[in-house]
Amino acid sequence: MKIMVIGNGAREHALAWKLKESPQVDDLYAAPGNAGTAAIARNLDVPATDIEALSRAVRQHEIDLTVVGPEAPLASGIVDLFQSLHLPVFGPTRAATQIESSKVFSRELIQKYGIPCAQGMVFSSYPQARDYVKSQPIPLVIKADGLAAGKGVVVATSREQALEVLSEFMERKTLGAAGNRVIVEECLNGQEVSLLAFTDGRYVRSMVPACDYKRVFDSDRGPNTGGMGSYSPPGFFDQSDVEKIQRTILEPAVRAMAAEGMPYKGVLYVGLMVNSGGVKVLEFNARFGDPETQAIIPRLKTDLVDIILAVINGTLDKMAIEWSDEACVGVVMASGGYPGKYQTGFSITGLDDLDSDILVFHAGTAMKNGVITNGGRVLTVVASGKSLKEARNRVYANIPRINFQGCHYRRDIAAREIA
Ligand code: AMP
Ligand code: GLY
Repeated sequence: MKIMVIGNGAREHALAWKLKESPQVDDLYAAPGNAGTAAIARNLDVPATDIEALSRAVRQHEIDLTVVGPEAPLASGIVDLFQSLHLPVFGPTRAATQIESSKVFSRELIQKYGIPCAQGMVFSSYPQARDYVKSQPIPLVIKADGLAAGKGVVVATSREQALEVLSEFMERKTLGAAGNRVIVEECLNGQEVSLLAFTDGRYVRSMVPACDYKRVFDSDRGPNTGGMGSYSPPGFFDQSDVEKIQRTILEPAVRAMAAEGMPYKGVLYVGLMVNSGGVKVLEFNARFGDPETQAIIPRLKTDLVDIILAVINGTLDKMAIEWSDEACVGVVMASGGYPGKYQTGFSITGLDDLDSDILVFHAGTAMKNGVITNGGRVLTVVASGKSLKEARNRVYANIPRINFQGCHYRRDIAAREIA
């Protein structure tokens, strides 16, 4: 088969790396890819958001299967377009992607089908939202309805901040139409975990759980990022928790989407808050998580092509998916200044000096007389081990061998798991 992966992050490099392992894959393509995918696939110079151009590339190169990484092409309807052209593609339709692309859609679905989530209200009128915020206990979570590249959710720790964010989203439209509707939610405490699952629209197969780290600095300080690291499995969330969440959240959500006339196929990601009161949904995403995927995919023993074909063909019930017992820790190396302003074009050294079983998944990298930086998040470095402690020790023993000007990374990924 010829397979194309859409996207250019470390998540897509990890997916391409796993697909490459399959004996069914003859040729691998990435659009647009990065220096990491270039080493194992052919990069096509087509942006992940240009779905028409992607369909033309698939026809031109006679690609048999397309795997979509990021949410933007899903929300633009890449799956609907490809299906209309009879081009096999892995991911949910545009309507089904609303579970991520509209937080109001997602909340209404969750409430209608009795899935546990935080208390909250939806507003399309700024004065009404403002009055509500004034009446609620602080902290409060303010969520813009639409896709906002990670900028659409603010946990407000003072009433002034909550009112300010509300005004930004709804009056000043800093996120454009994404802020036309807003959700104001109670703030939940606890530990966050991400559970991703494959689903063919009827059957659900959970992956192994993972945790990610959104803040830029150690101890969860500083601004939010696209994710600074991840690990799997979390010590506080075991296989019986996975099975329970599959039964009480993921399967009901998939049944709900089918009942609403928008059957969901692909990867369904649920972000959960776990505390002594139980488990509640924070969000759904319509795709693999980044950076969770970089710590999950190395644990997958089954051929990913077989799983994807079972999802597309609606035969996931016949599929046994196996995972390794090893732990994985992934640490993101980022450009100086990220998530604020940063420079690119610095050469990356040391990639050949790592222990042989260390995985380096590229994100913002390009080739120019060697590998150079080309984005905010540059690499996810991943180690496996018999325990999280071993995996963590190994990843942090290798990272200092990699260098580029301004590079920074968190030193506490998975640290809370190590007694
Ligand atoms: P979301 O995109 O809805 O997952 O929100 C992004 C992040 O905001 C989550 O990963 C949490 O860290 C935080 N968050 C969202 N909703 C809540 C909530 N109700 N209580 C506490 N934190 C939340
Ligand atoms: N790790 C969060 C996300 O992929 O949305």
